[in-house]
Amino acid sequence: MDQADQLRNIIKQQNKQQHLARVITVTSGKGGVGKSNISVNLAIQLSRLDKKVVILDADFGLANVEVMLGIRPQYNLADMMFKGKSLRDVISAGPENIGFISGGSGLREMTNLSRDQVQNLVRMIYGLDNIADVVIIDTGAGISDNVIELVMASSEVLLVATPEPTSITDAYALLKTLCRKPEFYKNHSKIRMVANRTHGYDEGKELFDKLDTVVKKFLKMKMEYLGYIPYDEKLLKAVMKQLPVSLAYPNAASSRAILEMAMFLENRKDGIEQGQSKGLSGLLTRMFHYKKV
Ligand SMILES: Nc1ncnc2c1ncn2[C@@H]1O[C@H](COP(=O)(O)OP(=O)(O)O)[C@@H](O)[C@H]1O
Ligand SMILES: [Mg+2]
Repeated sequence: MDQADQLRNIIKQQNKQQHLARVITVTSGKGGVGKSNISVNLAIQLSRLDKKVVILDADFGLANVEVMLGIRPQYNLADMMFKGKSLRDVISAGPENIGFISGGSGLREMTNLSRDQVQNLVRMIYGLDNIADVVIIDTGAGISDNVIELVMASSEVLLVATPEPTSITDAYALLKTLCRKPEFYKNHSKIRMVANRTHGYDEGKELFDKLDTVVKKFLKMKMEYLGYIPYDEKLLKAVMKQLPVSLAYPNAASSRAILEMAMFLENRKDGIEQGQSKGLSGLLTRMFHYKKV
């Protein structure tokens, strides 16, 4: 049995016994479009709908989520890998009962793991399937291998774009890169676009239509429109206070838009596939399958 087989066996055994988390990966072509704000506020809104939510900060090195929450986590993923901390140790408590796992800067040392270390990491992380109903993965921007692999392996993706022209071309570039990967199955992932920092409904819908038209025509891919989040001064104020806007200003336009998205997602679970592709264990199975470790 090679390492990939061993991993799949471990995961298959776990799948039989486990409650599986829904995994939503938040990504974008360009940085600074609102991924971390959307991840954190979506987590809070889903938590208010009685879901146990854990955010995995996968924008390694930047530590966005903890800055946004104004919380200094005691441990991060590297502590679990190298210092014997457990999964529960590295989940920090956030507001409204959300949990988050800091990628920390230590993750840079995690690019060259041994076989045993990789297996350990997989075992530890997929323990999240038992802890959370929803895992939100806040990724870095762009076409780096890390991001593409995460997106490729996710059954549900939120693609964030803003009205700036480069945001749309970069979103298109990300999807194009995905489509070029032989391992990417177009119908495997549900890709939903969020238009952020727009001025009203029309601008958001136009943004979606623009991207959707080229994506359909040239990439033969389907996307869904999740909706728009208006440009909101309240969100900026909240960021300055190191508070998520849905806590600082629950009635702000951006908070309400994200609540609507949370409710929509709660009612639409059709992006989640059956069987082994579900949950974090499914995501990891696919990642390691692609990598053929
Ligand atoms: N809806 C919005 N209205 C106004 N400003 C926003 C909005 N969404 C994001 N921003 C601004 O954009 C900045 C970047 O957001 P962030 O979530 O950190 O992006 P990313 O994670 O994609 O890099 C925020 O600090 C905030 O100033
Ligand atoms: Mg971010």
